[in-house]
Amino acid sequence: MSARIIAIDGPAGSGKSSVARALAAALGWSFLDTGAMYRAVTLEALRHDIDVHDEGAMAELARRVTLTTLPRVTINGRDVEDEIRTDEVNVAVSTVAANPLVRTQMVRRQRDFAAAQPLGTVVEGRDITTVVFPNATVKVFLTASLEERARRRGEEGAASVARRDDADTTRHASPLRQADDALVLDTTGRSVEDVVEEVIECLKLKTLS
Ligand code: CDP
Repeated sequence: MSARIIAIDGPAGSGKSSVARALAAALGWSFLDTGAMYRAVTLEALRHDIDVHDEGAMAELARRVTLTTLPRVTINGRDVEDEIRTDEVNVAVSTVAANPLVRTQMVRRQRDFAAAQPLGTVVEGRDITTVVFPNATVKVFLTASLEERARRRGEEGAASVARRDDADTTRHASPLRQADDALVLDTTGRSVEDVVEEVIECLKLKTLS
């Protein structure tokens, strides 16, 4: 049997990382933050003065880096866990994520990661339910009001969150959209535990049927 997948997509600040992390802990599964991968590649480009608009150079970078997300986010052996959340990266990451050549490299790595996990993986991002794992056991689309998402993002601010949402939903390559068969959950005013419980109920129904 192939490893099980819970795939979670949604806009910035919708609660994907917190919910995915808690779900993985509750199930004893692995967790994959795919946004951290796009952020790490972006940071590496900025550090080496590679133009993030240069599609070929960015694809080459995405192909040759070594990348981990757990236990810490590292790129070419350097711990970048904190640096990938800076404004500099927030501004440039949507350009990198819109590059189809970079996406091909990231998707390949994400599938390889999940295939190597013994029990299952909770994967979160923007194209997980639609492109990376369209046959996931459970597909979830998280939403929340812009006000609440901006509040959760704190320093980044509502304008930057809204700009990234716009870039992520309107880009040509794998735009953020709800999969037809995704469980759509509005997390506004809901606790992480509450959302996790609902997803686990859904998983039970899917795996019993
Ligand atoms: O945590 P937050 O929702 O703010 O963002 P993230 O998940 O760290 O992702 C950062 C950026 O990477 C997003 O704004 C997308 O442009 C891109 N991304 C993507 O295109 N595809 C994914 N599977 C994950 C992230």
